Amino acid sequence: MLQITRPRTVETVVELRDIVRDWRRAGDLVALAPTMGGLHEGHLSLIRAARRRARRVIATIFVNPTQFGAGEDFEAYPRDTVRDTELLAGAGCDLIYAPGTATMYPEGFSTTVGVDATTQALCGAHRPGHFDGVTTVVCKLLNQAQPDYAIFGEKDWQQLVTIRRMVADLDMPIRIASSPTVREADGLAMSSRNRYLTHEQRAVAAKLNKALFAAADHIAKGLPPERVATACRQALLSAGFDAVDYLDARDALTLAPLDAFGPGTEARLFAAARLGKTRLIDNVPIERTGLTE
Ligand code: PAF
Repeated sequence: MLQITRPRTVETVVELRDIVRDWRRAGDLVALAPTMGGLHEGHLSLIRAARRRARRVIATIFVNPTQFGAGEDFEAYPRDTVRDTELLAGAGCDLIYAPGTATMYPEGFSTTVGVDATTQALCGAHRPGHFDGVTTVVCKLLNQAQPDYAIFGEKDWQQLVTIRRMVADLDMPIRIASSPTVREADGLAMSSRNRYLTHEQRAVAAKLNKALFAAADHIAKGLPPERVATACRQALLSAGFDAVDYLDARDALTLAPLDAFGPGTEARLFAAARLGKTRLIDNVPIERTGLTE
């Protein structure tokens, strides 16, 4: 019978570094998957992606207060250590690093790591301070664990390119890998926040990915990105979304606005839309899918 070993959980930098040092002495590569807990299949795919790259896998669980704005869901954010530990054990995680707030932000903490180029638009324009919170905490987690790899999900594409920029700009000796968005059967991107949706909102939520894939297909066929985006925004509001924060075609690497799509362009369509108090984000590649033939 397959024996699943529960990963050990540590809360301090000293314990974390001791374990990582022993792994390194044994010649093992180490991969880190940062999370805020509230785990779902999307997070577990990060653990599996980490496993493919390294013999040792660490998951971090820390609900980072500095990346939540006033009135956002910091207090309500799901926290279930027992469930998260079970899920991580099943996915092949070796170690959970779950620092407390005092470890991450001790008395007198006063440093912010910010990346300008990739954080002004999209979520950055709607969640002031959010990306400074993300880059600061990720910089700390990477410095604390000093892994060979860190893995991030493509659902948070803007976060992914921002962290790649930070790691390159600060000469951090860590390879950043990404893992594709994991979707429910109806295409809704998995997110810890999906559990906030009511039954009716959940039915509407599934329309976001469908609208994005169809719009991306239109842009790939040569229709003007701005015209397609405007029509798609309108379609989402008609489908029952309460607001669309943004729906924009952008260069996949720089996040610069996309004027036209052409051969060799790597671009994506990004959206954030609201259903009541829940804000959903998603992004898809701009490529021909045949969806709108
Ligand atoms: O993607 C997340 O869950 C968070 O932004 C991260 C990367 C764990 C930083 O808190």
